[in-house]
Amino acid sequence: MSSIAPALWSLLPTSTTLSPQGVVAIAGHAVPALAQQYGTPLYVFDRATIEAACRDYQRAFRAAYHASPVRILYAGKAYLAPPLVALMAAQGFGLDVVSAGELLVAQLGQMPMERIAFHGNNKSAEELRLALQLGVGRIVLDNEHELTLLTRLARELAVRPRVLLRVAPEVETKTHRYLQTGHASAKFGFALRTGEARAALLRILDEQVVELVGLHAHSGTMLRAVEPYQLTLQRLLELAAGLYQERAWWPQEVSPGGGWGVQTLDEPQMPPVELLAQALEQCMNHTLTSLGLALPAPTLVLEPGRSLIARAGVAIYRVGARKVTPGGTRYLFVDGGMADNIRPALYGAHYTAIPAERAFAEPEEHVCVAGRYCESGDILIERVTLPRMQADELLLLPTAGAYCLPMASNYNLVPRPAVVLVAEHACLLMERRETHADLLQRYAQEPIIE
Ligand code: LLP
Repeated sequence: MSSIAPALWSLLPTSTTLSPQGVVAIAGHAVPALAQQYGTPLYVFDRATIEAACRDYQRAFRAAYHASPVRILYAGKAYLAPPLVALMAAQGFGLDVVSAGELLVAQLGQMPMERIAFHGNNKSAEELRLALQLGVGRIVLDNEHELTLLTRLARELAVRPRVLLRVAPEVETKTHRYLQTGHASAKFGFALRTGEARAALLRILDEQVVELVGLHAHSGTMLRAVEPYQLTLQRLLELAAGLYQERAWWPQEVSPGGGWGVQTLDEPQMPPVELLAQALEQCMNHTLTSLGLALPAPTLVLEPGRSLIARAGVAIYRVGARKVTPGGTRYLFVDGGMADNIRPALYGAHYTAIPAERAFAEPEEHVCVAGRYCESGDILIERVTLPRMQADELLLLPTAGAYCLPMASNYNLVPRPAVVLVAEHACLLMERRETHADLLQRYAQEPIIE
């Protein structure tokens, strides 16, 4: 075999190349050399793929959405590091953060504070205070308690934060249960049906402490259909119309959140982002017309995470032991696993793998790729067909750019991997490998309790 299947090829970073021997390189950097220099497990992000994904969004919305201005915020929870923040800022994007930690990384990456939206369903007083002190552009209010807290802090600090109210849109989505966020029992946002959202909006307008600039909702993630977005946007505009009639308030901006999916091996048919842009335009125009309000369409704010970053990242593992069990499972063990990628265990996410040093080698056996952690559920790939791989060979997992590292843990006290960002003729260590010293320094140095 001298090529790899197109379906697999389209999961790899756009600047992936293969030597005649089948050695994988990303942006001209041979994977074995990267593994040699930085060790394994290693996560490699390709700058060109990220930039291409950003351009796709911009192009799609420029071509297919004309109803109102559009702002794009990268959802940093998908993966965040200062160089990535800087890259997103250079693309003209803003950032969605969900903690003081993410906010501080945003600051390190020099994202203009005005372009940041601070999300979360249980932000602490310290986090809100930091956001106010740094002058974060938008605070997305999730619940009554938070509204009270923010109002108090804003008075204390004599500032007038700009807020969006997050609404639970009661929209069903076809995605894993844990990835649904807009249904009637979801933990995020003010309820619509009970009047909670409307009451909170009235309260904000009455109190005049925080400045109400818009409405937000997010219905789920890894979505492939446009209907949840349309229904969400429609519900936000209907809520706004009610407020307009009561108080002459109209949002400057509305956000149907993020959540657009990506191509995977088992779901290769991912509609292009233009489809989302078209659907949102239609919905915006149609809803405003049917509400009979001659008001400007609010700025549309989008918060993509996964769709900007998933394809850009690959995980590189080194193969160790192999084992064929009496039960018939043929295991290939690698030096990472569930602590750097919990997604298969948590969501049943499917990954595939290729031998990074001989991608053209004939597949010979079905294996289960399992990690090094003391847990039976530590499985990265339930079944993949690979050439017979030997100890010390490198295995590459595509589409590992989103939500692997941010959910990484130190389970079994294993240090977390290094992360590099590659471009033609450049390689930046975004996160150095954690050391045992990093792990040990968090413990009490005196092991006796008197
Ligand atoms: N905006 C809000 C308010 C969100 O809650 C999320 C994701 C996003 C935007 C970005 O969604 P994206 O475009 O990345 O799908 N750990 C899970 C994903 C959880 C996403 C939570 N919220 C996973 O590994 O699939």
